[in-house]
Amino acid sequence: MPLFDVYPLYDVTPVCAKGVHVYGADRKKYLDLYGGHAVISIGHQHPVYKRRLKKQISRIGFYSNAIQNPLQKQLANEIEAQSDCRGYQLFMCSSGAEANENALKLASFHTEKSKIVAFKNAFHGRTSAAVAATDTPKIIAPLNAQQEVIFLEFGDEDALEKTLSKEDVCAVIIEAIQGVGGLDMPSKKFMKSVEKGCRKYNSCLIADEVQSGFGRSGAFFAYQHFGVTPDIISMAKGMGNGFPVGGILVHPNIEPWYGMLGTTFGGNHLACQASLAVLEVLKKKNLIEHAANLGEAFKARTKTIKGIKKVKGHGLMLGLEFDFEVSELRKKLIYEHRIFTGGSSNKKLLRILPPLTIQQKHLDQFLDALKQSL
Ligand SMILES: Cc1ncc(COP(=O)(O)O)c(C=O)c1O
Repeated sequence: MPLFDVYPLYDVTPVCAKGVHVYGADRKKYLDLYGGHAVISIGHQHPVYKRRLKKQISRIGFYSNAIQNPLQKQLANEIEAQSDCRGYQLFMCSSGAEANENALKLASFHTEKSKIVAFKNAFHGRTSAAVAATDTPKIIAPLNAQQEVIFLEFGDEDALEKTLSKEDVCAVIIEAIQGVGGLDMPSKKFMKSVEKGCRKYNSCLIADEVQSGFGRSGAFFAYQHFGVTPDIISMAKGMGNGFPVGGILVHPNIEPWYGMLGTTFGGNHLACQASLAVLEVLKKKNLIEHAANLGEAFKARTKTIKGIKKVKGHGLMLGLEFDFEVSELRKKLIYEHRIFTGGSSNKKLLRILPPLTIQQKHLDQFLDALKQSL
């Protein structure tokens, strides 16, 4: 039976991985500056991750949300302690799209409204409302197009005010640092206006931290660089270091009722342990500060490379913009220098999303390879 052919693939077959490296069936060693799409946060096969998952699976791997699972509470407490999101409530699911789908649904329940405001170039996932709020018409099926979404430009305060003042918007969903779209960010002033507008007109502010959360941007959540308070925060990717886990943090102003949200797999024992492992290593190894420092040092070093037009992002969520399309450059990096990098919907931008355990020497290796490839 053929696979449903929706992914263009590189000719590399990873068979094992350790730390910041992936090893192919060709016995070659690749430097992973992509992290499997910003997923590998504490490094491949981290001993804490392996220990927690092995121990858990030898006891109980899964049961549904109909029973007590103290690991969920432990995880909620640890997220609260590390993120400083005081009083929020945790609901767990299994992917980024599902986290956003739940966030949007919750906003709609809470405000009793149905329109969504999203931003140009946004990416929020591929399910119903999440994909409708994604600014890529090609991936929106007629079924999804029934959602009412208004796409605004970052910085367009007049349009924001005009749209929210109609009082029919349940949520403004925003990536503080755009991922798939190409690392663009709103200004602090605009982010504050979004927060103010949401308060004034009773819409929920949803921070999509699926890609930028869990330390990647050099803060626990990227919106924290902007000093706003979201009503709902969506998370996934780095939260589980490869184990499918997602979730939302819900502001104490939003009250739950039985049956409001639900999932079979979300928050299972293994998922909780994977995320607890991530948090344990983030704290022990001070990885958020490490990401912030390394990102700044990397940005400074890129100044010496001719051909880079712009460096975008924060921490270890970075984008290098060139004045040419980067698909050939990515191929050169992977096949000649054995370095994985990411692309984006901005075809001229190379994305750097390494495990947060990466060291300066690895980034220097990349910059050398880049110089040779340009
Ligand atoms: C910001 C953001 N939101 C949501 C998603 C969707 O996550 P998933 O692929 O886990 O459904 C992504 C995936 O790239 C993302 O970058």
